Amino acid sequence: MLGPPGAGKGTQAQVLATKLGVPTISTGDILRAAVKNGTSVGLEAKGYMDRGELVPDSVVIGVFLDRVSQDDCKTGYIFDGMPRNLAQAKELDRQGIQIDTALSIEISDAEIEKRLTGRRVCPDCAETFHVEFGPPKKDGMCDRCDAVLIIREDDKAETVRQRLAVYHAETEPLKDYYKSQGKLITVENINGIDEATAAVLKALGI
Ligand code: AP5
Repeated sequence: MLGPPGAGKGTQAQVLATKLGVPTISTGDILRAAVKNGTSVGLEAKGYMDRGELVPDSVVIGVFLDRVSQDDCKTGYIFDGMPRNLAQAKELDRQGIQIDTALSIEISDAEIEKRLTGRRVCPDCAETFHVEFGPPKKDGMCDRCDAVLIIREDDKAETVRQRLAVYHAETEPLKDYYKSQGKLITVENINGIDEATAAVLKALGI
């Protein structure tokens, strides 16, 4: 899944993972869990994440390769937030990690701020909600595990602007990288979540 912060990658990845019966590997979720648990990776990643910068490739690639080598990835996977720059994409190729399709979720920078200020996430299972566009059944509580939902540290307006700048400079060029390999599919996420899901499934032919 490619796309700017708040484009809806995680939301659509959850739907696809359930439908396809494969895990979603979200480097953002892995790093946030590491921060929460105070591991050495978490301690190293926290500052970068809080500033809206990319965590160094050496750190991210290590935790990612660890996760993708687990048994549940043997029949497939959805990557959410990985690769994030050209160096990471080339490293995945070098490691023989096969990517069949790069799905880019398209959304304007203006829409992103609205999406991210209303986002609420579960600190335990990482399920994502939106106060207006995809609210939980019980106000402020996770549908899946009943934990109290939180606002992500990096969803402050100033940090969102930095994340967007990083996206345009470092991640967006990956669209050309995968386009040149005939793997790029783009979907606009301008309407509601269900409409976006329908567009994603249609684009993927599933
Ligand atoms: P990461 O967690 O990957 O964040 P991100 O890419 O910035 O993406 P988000 O999770 O913010 O957004 P999303 O596209 O998943 O949107 P969502 O579905 O939640 O990364 C965080 C940080 O970790 C990075 O900044 C970096 O520091 C580090 N990191 C991670 N991977 C890295 C890597 N590979 N290399 C280096 N550093 C790395 O949707 C947003 C909101 O909108 C939700 O509330 C949702 O309910 C709502 N919504 C979704 N679709 C719709 C719709 N159609 N209509 C209305 N609302 C909608």
